[in-house]
Amino acid sequence: MRNPKRYTVTAALPYANGPLHIGHMAGVYIPADIYVRYLRARGRDVAFVCGSDEHGAAITLRAKKEGRTPQELVDEYHQKIGNAFRDFGISFDIYHRTSSELHRRTAGDFFLKLHQKGVFEEKTSQQYYDPEASQFLADRYITGTCPKCGYDSAYGDQCENCGSSLSPQELIEPRSTLSGAQPVMRETSHWFLPMQRHEDWLRTWLIEGKLDGKQHHDPAAWKRQVIGQCKSWIDGGLQPRAMTRDLDWGVPVPLKGAAGKVLYVWMDAPIGYISATKALAETDGRDHTAHWQSEDTKLVHFLAKDNIVFHCIIFPILLKAHGDYILPENVPANEFLNLEGKKISTSRNWAVWLHEYLEDFPGRRDELRYVLNAIAPEFRDSEFTWSDFQTRVNNELVAVLGNFVNRTVVLTHKFFDGKVPPLSDRDFGDSSAGRALAAIEALKESMPEQLEAYRFKEAQGEMMRLAQLGNRILTQEEPWKTVKTDRDHAAAVLHLCIQITANLGIFADPFIPDTAAKIREMLNLGELNWDSISPTLIAAGHPTEKPALLFSRVEDEEVATQIEKLKQAAEPATEPKTAHMPQKASVAFDDFMKIDIRIATILAAERVPKTDKLLKIDLDTGLDKRTVVSGIAEYYDPADLPGKQVSVLMNLEPRKIRGIESQGMILMAEDADGKLSFVNPDSAAGNGATVR
Ligand code: 2FM
Ligand code: ZN
Repeated sequence: MRNPKRYTVTAALPYANGPLHIGHMAGVYIPADIYVRYLRARGRDVAFVCGSDEHGAAITLRAKKEGRTPQELVDEYHQKIGNAFRDFGISFDIYHRTSSELHRRTAGDFFLKLHQKGVFEEKTSQQYYDPEASQFLADRYITGTCPKCGYDSAYGDQCENCGSSLSPQELIEPRSTLSGAQPVMRETSHWFLPMQRHEDWLRTWLIEGKLDGKQHHDPAAWKRQVIGQCKSWIDGGLQPRAMTRDLDWGVPVPLKGAAGKVLYVWMDAPIGYISATKALAETDGRDHTAHWQSEDTKLVHFLAKDNIVFHCIIFPILLKAHGDYILPENVPANEFLNLEGKKISTSRNWAVWLHEYLEDFPGRRDELRYVLNAIAPEFRDSEFTWSDFQTRVNNELVAVLGNFVNRTVVLTHKFFDGKVPPLSDRDFGDSSAGRALAAIEALKESMPEQLEAYRFKEAQGEMMRLAQLGNRILTQEEPWKTVKTDRDHAAAVLHLCIQITANLGIFADPFIPDTAAKIREMLNLGELNWDSISPTLIAAGHPTEKPALLFSRVEDEEVATQIEKLKQAAEPATEPKTAHMPQKASVAFDDFMKIDIRIATILAAERVPKTDKLLKIDLDTGLDKRTVVSGIAEYYDPADLPGKQVSVLMNLEPRKIRGIESQGMILMAEDADGKLSFVNPDSAAGNGATVR
């Protein structure tokens, strides 16, 4: 791997319209922070930038609902989010914001440069307009049924149920979220990015890692799911996408005759990384252009899977079209974290909020960092439960790491006056003690490989295995006994254990920095870096401080309190989720009669490869045998389905989903938690029976 001169590491800018929760932390900010802390320990020049994403329709929508201005809303959350990051110890070099003047100028200039280069096409097009609210509707202001999975509250830009990116025109039965009215099409003009023109180089860049005929990065170093998502987007054919919107909140389009138009938030937000770096340069004098424009800079974006296409397709197109910028060398995106068996949901208050954790568990932020990294959704969705949190803290942090370090320092004080005892030339053979020093050397080599490959979970596991080895040494060698008969043996054992402990003060730092600092303090070690790692890090005779406990147990009552709190705060399950949606506009009886719903029996079902949600289902409809694709894989095991009766919308226009023609739609009832179940007759009805 090449050796870059400097790094620019970005973490997705959170929307400034709600607090941070553990899903954000596990998916984006903890991995980014681990990576950056490690790079700093290696003495690398890093700019770690983030900030609040303060534009976009989700923000204007919320401000409107709360009767305040968007600026008031983002001022509040920018402050809250920034504080939560700081209190949790996410070590950004800068936490900036997109409503700042510097950002408006930077994003405006970027747009202008692309405009001057002829990158955009100005086009008039038909867009949804709310006749009741008298305004054009941004994608987020429109909801309707997802054409891919049938979810009835998909947004105009994305379906939160199946993760598909959508355009508002694709929604079935669109509704305005402002008034509930059915939107109408109206003409407006915008600047479009003709993404289809960029398909060829994007494909080569993503799949082969080549850019402009040169090797840009190693595509094998990218996560498969990241490349897979981009590839399926490109294979589906890229479409022109408007880079401007009709909205009164955002970065104004810096052109004459563009009053009332702002940059599309997905153009403006990633430029926020650039403006944040500029703001950082103003405070510490670094060269911000080198961080974005020099080929010896390594640019890495941290984010979650719903942001992949924006960072791997749209932003790279903008950067390359501009001409002066480098492209990301990796985008190690994560999947999603679930909570106690359900999706984390801000609107349903099903979340562990970061600021609340920090209040409820003061001084215990490393515990959460550790557990969230241990369960991080690196390759697939994963789950946080309070009982697993308790088990990991008690069985791993307390019982392994804390116990090892504590026993080592306590014994050193008890038998050796708190001074590092000498190793002597005792040979421990192939026992755990005999392997201690080599294990330190080995970890110094292997951990960087894991960290530089974004395998943070695995790297943390390796760190813990060193602590485990230390514990085994103590248990096997029992220096508290041998000190009475063979003092040199006890001295040598504790010497080894102190070397391990001291090195853990460096190895643990990227993951649990407070703990690593406590270890270094206990051993009276000053600032250390990766080069300090060594089996002879600490000399015999070096004085240590009094032992202090690194962790305390998580008690059953604490777990019970948290679970209770979650349940109390969550929106009551009896309130149907659709209560937020006004009833749909009425339909004529004749229109209803056009719909053909029948009872059918499932013949076979299997997962659609490389998807989490989709099943391919073969049906006997009484009229024919046909196939539908349905987004229910989270709720049903395909093996359980053959023989079940379902209701099928027969005359829905067939459409291709992941290359499979879906001939109709299975109707599902959705409860308040988003759980899906089949709608079937309560007494036997033959296949083909009509539903009216
Ligand atoms: O998904 C989100 O939360 C967006 N606010 C992420 C923006 S990342 C970047 F483009 F700034
Ligand atoms: Zn969907």
